[in-house]
Amino acid sequence: MASRSVVPSRDLGLEWGLLFARYLLDSEELHYGYFTPDIPVKLANLPQAQKQHTDLILSHLPQSAQTVLDVGCGTGGLALRMAQRGCQVDCVAPDSTLLDCAQARLGDRARIFRERFEHFQGDRKYDAVVFSESFQYVPVDLALANIDRLLKPGGCLLICDFFKRQGKQGSPIGGGHKIHTFLEAAKQAGFEASTDLDITAQTAPTMTLVAEFLDKVGAPFWRMGVDYCTVAWPKSTRLVKWWFKQRLAKLDEKYFSGRRNAATFTEFKTYRLMLFERTADRKPAEAGTTKTAEPATA
Ligand SMILES: C[S@@+](CC[C@H](N)C(=O)[O-])C[C@H]1O[C@@H](n2cnc3c(N)ncnc32)[C@H](O)[C@@H]1O
Repeated sequence: MASRSVVPSRDLGLEWGLLFARYLLDSEELHYGYFTPDIPVKLANLPQAQKQHTDLILSHLPQSAQTVLDVGCGTGGLALRMAQRGCQVDCVAPDSTLLDCAQARLGDRARIFRERFEHFQGDRKYDAVVFSESFQYVPVDLALANIDRLLKPGGCLLICDFFKRQGKQGSPIGGGHKIHTFLEAAKQAGFEASTDLDITAQTAPTMTLVAEFLDKVGAPFWRMGVDYCTVAWPKSTRLVKWWFKQRLAKLDEKYFSGRRNAATFTEFKTYRLMLFERTADRKPAEAGTTKTAEPATA
């Protein structure tokens, strides 16, 4: 692995997530779970719910999609499933430990490009461009222009990710483009959703697990550390607390106030699975409306 410059904090969060998933769950998946009534919301069931999330994406990927670009492939779980289905898969994501993991998992079953999607030129065109929880990391206008360039005529764009609900301020959970702004930009760029499935209710329980973890492990660990430093190094701790007052207050509010949970996720975010075709490629009668996902049966 080549040496890297400073890892951005968002990437660091994903890399920590990978350590936890590996150690606690014997899993390498980093995305939300898709919880159905038959899967009780507990940490041990997250891998099963994550598998359902991947199954849902695959069930919406047209069978005709042979060449697929997996943007922000994480540790390569979805890419592997698409390759097993017979697709020729390329993955593109910034260089990271996650991508090393994807490379090891995929071997020669997919090509891996270590760069940001907005800079990706590619050497072929695709039947489908897929984003699983990675669309929020790429600026909308650059993403849409590059997708348009990379898709074959008749190709499709599949996005499974959460967005900000329009007009909602003060979310304790970061991430996501504004949904209406994105849909408008997509329309302007010639993409219209033929499928738009709202899966917020099925994915939000993942945040219940995050909230439990922060409450039972994160917050006590953090407070014990602060208490220890206050006793062991009183003067320097006072100085650090004063110097970083605003940052520490923000961190405390964001992670340890108990506001990062399923209820706030549902209030501020909308998690969607959307399949787009280019307007020029499709008949007007195919235009779709937002549907709420039915809870899948076991
Ligand atoms: C939450 S992970 C999702 C991983 C995987 N798709 C999944 O569903 O498990 C986000 C992924 O987006 C990637 N990513 C972040 N910024 C990106 C960019 N500008 N272009 C492409 N991928 C990016 C990260 O490296 C990571 O692989």
